[in-house]
Amino acid sequence: QDIFLIGAPVDSGKRAQGCLMGPDAYRVAGLAEVARDLGHKVSDLGNLAPESVTGSKSENSAVHSLDTTIGWTRALKRVAEETAPKGLPVFMGGDHALSLGSVAGMAEHARRQDRPLFVLWLDAHSDFHTPLSTTSGNLHGTPVAYVTGREGFDGFPEIKAPVPTENVCMIGLRSVDPAERAALAETEATLVDMRQIDEDGIVAPLRSFLERVAQANGLLHVSLDVDFLDPAIAPAVGTTVPGGATMREAHLVCELLHDSGLVASLDLVELNPFLDDRGRTASLMVDLTASLLGKRIFDRPTRPFGTG
Ligand code: ARG
Ligand code: MN
Ligand code: MN
Ligand code: MN
Repeated sequence: QDIFLIGAPVDSGKRAQGCLMGPDAYRVAGLAEVARDLGHKVSDLGNLAPESVTGSKSENSAVHSLDTTIGWTRALKRVAEETAPKGLPVFMGGDHALSLGSVAGMAEHARRQDRPLFVLWLDAHSDFHTPLSTTSGNLHGTPVAYVTGREGFDGFPEIKAPVPTENVCMIGLRSVDPAERAALAETEATLVDMRQIDEDGIVAPLRSFLERVAQANGLLHVSLDVDFLDPAIAPAVGTTVPGGATMREAHLVCELLHDSGLVASLDLVELNPFLDDRGRTASLMVDLTASLLGKRIFDRPTRPFGTG
């Protein structure tokens, strides 16, 4: 497979800085080499810069870095649209505001291919605020609302074919704000919280989602937020929430994603290398990406997806 690494040092999605060092941390942790060793053809496209935007205003005075975030969204949307027809874009973040652009671009790519886009959101948070509903003002908490076509994103690029909420699956939820909870209740999104994972395991909900993607001949975008993982194994993130996915749960998700053959694009977001402990979070994210790109302990037959 042709893999394109895209550095997206987005740091405008929240106030605490440090995610801008993420792309280089992934490079130092050997992301390109790991993917090459698995037999892929890898090109590192270097780091992207935001388009220059000035004068945007929000009705919500809590919102910050709106211009920069809109600039990033434009740049990322464009590079996603250009890269997706050629291979698998891997967006090395950068905070989760980068997904405003990566997913918007993938939605346009899917529209041109006349195929539905599905989004798997691996995150402690639902990131379903709009710029009007957010109380923190942190736009990294808004990408799912934007790509599903919610109101309130004035100044952001238009999304011609928003992702239907029934094509969104969130796994790992354990921090959802009241306004997000109320808005999600009006949607058809699949919401897998930590309790469901505890009770039923992580495979069952993932498998049924992947079956749906396969049946629909869909393209799958995967957005992996570091805080999906338990902070004990992944400390390098500003928004830690205790009680997250274990290392094996996370690998299993990535292994099944590889076996599905459905993944069209990947975000690696919210890594803040300034908060890391001898690079262990960056290395774990690279290990998980390796599982998603085909690394396995032994070859084993996997039940095919999309056959019911
Ligand atoms: N819901 C909170 C907020 O809106 C947290 C969002 C965290 N998002 C993230 N991508 N880490 O501020
Ligand atoms: Mn997130
Ligand atoms: Mn999160
Ligand atoms: Mn909030």
